[in-house]
Amino acid sequence: MFSSKIVGFESYVPANIVTNDDLSKIVETSDEWIYTRTGISKRCLSTNENTSDFAINVGKKLIENSNISAEDIDIVIVATITSDYLTPSTACIVQGAIGAKNALAFDINVACSGFVYALSIADKFLKSGIYKNAIVIGAETLSKLLDWSDRSTCVLFGDGSGGVLLTACEDYNSIIAEDLKANGVSWQTITGGKLNNNNPFIKEEIQKDNFYLQMNGREVFNFATKTVPKSINTILEKANITLDDIKYIVPHQANSRIVEVVAKKLKVSLDKFYLNLQTYGNTSAASIPIALAEMSEKGLLQKGDKIIITGFGAGLTWASMLIQI
Ligand code: ACO
Repeated sequence: MFSSKIVGFESYVPANIVTNDDLSKIVETSDEWIYTRTGISKRCLSTNENTSDFAINVGKKLIENSNISAEDIDIVIVATITSDYLTPSTACIVQGAIGAKNALAFDINVACSGFVYALSIADKFLKSGIYKNAIVIGAETLSKLLDWSDRSTCVLFGDGSGGVLLTACEDYNSIIAEDLKANGVSWQTITGGKLNNNNPFIKEEIQKDNFYLQMNGREVFNFATKTVPKSINTILEKANITLDDIKYIVPHQANSRIVEVVAKKLKVSLDKFYLNLQTYGNTSAASIPIALAEMSEKGLLQKGDKIIITGFGAGLTWASMLIQI
């Protein structure tokens, strides 16, 4: 009987740092407005790299810092809503670039819940006993999906990538419990990247939808603050443990005010939540693995620690997972 063990955490963000003050020169906003509404002070934005470049960096580091060779990787999954191309997948570009020539590779599109969904999928592959090693990456270049004249969205997001290396294991289990859900009835709450029909047989004038990311901020706020505490309680119940057993909750890094409400509803100190959105903004599928890599580098993740990761976003989707380091 196999389970999955996480054996590596890595991240990569572009070097170009953009502060709230920098943005106030582009749109009518201020550091005060952005920081008090979201907790974000700055973000890294790509100048010349695309999503696959970020993900390749993460994939290479995961292999370099492990004792697993590229040829021994069986699975490469990239969670992204901002792939370089609609086809090929970013995962295939990564698989080729890192020399994982024996691996299957595919992307998944679950927005800000994408990394947790991808981890769950990889876990099931490894539990099958057929595959041994998996690279799971969240990577985004959200800056290319933003309308840079729309101050209500362009101040919220950042670019970057993070990922983990998973290996099948008979005596250790990193993925203990999960709660993955969707509510497609509310898909219009967050949209982006609409591709319009375009062929010579269309008779009527097509209304061209806005390509750029659009969201109803208030609805997202209400959805997240209602759903995330419930989802966390669901996995605690499934694992038969309490929040006292949890060292950290690592939420999708969207907004510090969302996290404050979630902490209040769970009756748990805000200190239990790991937040780095101040530095990176909302990097969608990349936000949780970037946070995990940062925590690992700081020595915050020790063997045996139990942590909860929880993502929420477009779809609408949400996904929480109890992980043992
Ligand atoms: N700078 C200055 N003023 C702004 C800005 C800005 N960047 N953006 C909006 N405003 C103005 C609005 O125009 C509005 O002005 P008005 O009252 O004159 O009309 C005013 O500020 C209030 O706007 P609201 O949208 O009502 O602001 P709110 O207090 O709801 O905060 C926010 C907006 C931060 C987006 C909030 O709704 C929120 O946190 N929502 C959650 C969204 C989120 O986290 N999304 C990411 C998750 S989804 C995903 O990850 C893909």
